[in-house]
Amino acid sequence: MVVGLGTGSTAYWAIRELGSRVRQGLEIRAVPTSTQSELLARELGIPIAPFGEIDRIDLDIDGADEVDRDLNLIKGGGGALLREKIIASASDRFLIVADESKLVRNLGNFPLPVEVFPFAWELTFRQLKQLGCIPVLRREKDQHFISDNGNFIIDCAFGIMTEPSRILRQLGKIPGIAGHGLFLGMADIVIIGKKNGKTEVLEKKSA
Ligand code: A5P
Repeated sequence: MVVGLGTGSTAYWAIRELGSRVRQGLEIRAVPTSTQSELLARELGIPIAPFGEIDRIDLDIDGADEVDRDLNLIKGGGGALLREKIIASASDRFLIVADESKLVRNLGNFPLPVEVFPFAWELTFRQLKQLGCIPVLRREKDQHFISDNGNFIIDCAFGIMTEPSRILRQLGKIPGIAGHGLFLGMADIVIIGKKNGKTEVLEKKSA
């Protein structure tokens, strides 16, 4: 199988577990969604598949910052949203692992991460503001946060999204956006880990 490796503190544990299964003989090739996950995978001896050699990914395992019961997600708290979306969209099955604090009735409490090209980012920032959110340019150690793709991230506090699909459409009209963390209708399965050690599995409703 070709397996997508997500990014973040939850995906970290999934990658660790895959690493131990590989040591026991599991045969996979992995496609990491960030430099961070690639380094971890290499450390654990998980073979990495070069993009030139693959068209489809069998299974992508990732985390999320928010998930609703329709399996819509906000992702990108770790800044890897663009690669995460590219990998998820090329995957036959997209599986999310999250703890119960991530499960929400409506998305939007977590500011939506939007990756923007550095060129004219101030203009993109103002265009995002016109959508009715409060945008904040992400910083790291007193510098602009730079994604693995060399872009900036603007965290957009929309508040509760009653119509996330409308926001998705509006974001699609802003050319300075390289990608955003609104993942609507993409996840196939969400596994929620609970404090009591139990799990709840949410599955995509068939159309
Ligand atoms: C990385 O860019 C994100 O999309 C992560 O998948 C998401 O932020 C969840 O991260 P944690 O598992 O660390 O909460």
